[in-house]
Amino acid sequence: MLFDSHAHYNDERFEDDMDEILSSMPENNVGLILNSCSEIAEIPDILKICAKYPFVYASVGVHPHETDGLTERDMDTLKEYAKHSKVKAIGEIGLDYFYDFSARDAQKKWFARQVDLAKELKMPVVIHDRDAHKDCMDILREHNVKEVGGVFHCYAGSVEMAKEILDWGMYIAFGGSLTFKKSVKPKEVAAYVPLDRIVIETDSPYLTPEPHRGKRNSSLYIHYVAEKLAEIKGISVDEVENATFENAKRLFGI
Ligand code: NI
Repeated sequence: MLFDSHAHYNDERFEDDMDEILSSMPENNVGLILNSCSEIAEIPDILKICAKYPFVYASVGVHPHETDGLTERDMDTLKEYAKHSKVKAIGEIGLDYFYDFSARDAQKKWFARQVDLAKELKMPVVIHDRDAHKDCMDILREHNVKEVGGVFHCYAGSVEMAKEILDWGMYIAFGGSLTFKKSVKPKEVAAYVPLDRIVIETDSPYLTPEPHRGKRNSSLYIHYVAEKLAEIKGISVDEVENATFENAKRLFGI
């Protein structure tokens, strides 16, 4: 069975057919899904999805895009939501210097604050790092992320950077970009990282793998990522499925 470790079913692009899609997961070999979170306002919707589908779990956190204007009161709210039994991680949190939708000072401040919150709650973190590798690693190092561990979602860093992440006991997630013909670096990293530290994801509705690139993504396409990883590692798809399923369960404590 497959574990999609990062998806966004509360996204408006699933408004019309989310139930149809999620109901079809068990018969399509998708056993577990972690629904990620970008802002506090969407958490009630995410928890409704979790309540309806026993195989959907959640993380809660504020994406770097949404960090402008955050307050300590928001952290209190997040902390309350994090106590829900289906919430298994804090995220996605991190830095995004590609879009810079929030000021970098705000991004850094609230990223660090949410790492501290995760440590207080003893929960793993889900990291979003886009074009911000150095600052992201500095904050994780300074705030001692290894106390709780977590996962780098849609990993886009180097092998060198992956070594330090693995030293911290964290996992590395690969998604649709692994299947893109022109993406060379993720394939190198996937070849390097030991199988017991890899999880797979779709980031639905984004980052649709080949051969469906350009369409809306869903967890029904996660097998393309597993197949590509099996090819890179020179092992069977079954081995990839079993390992990544168990890894994600261990990562999120499910
Ligand atoms: Ni995401």
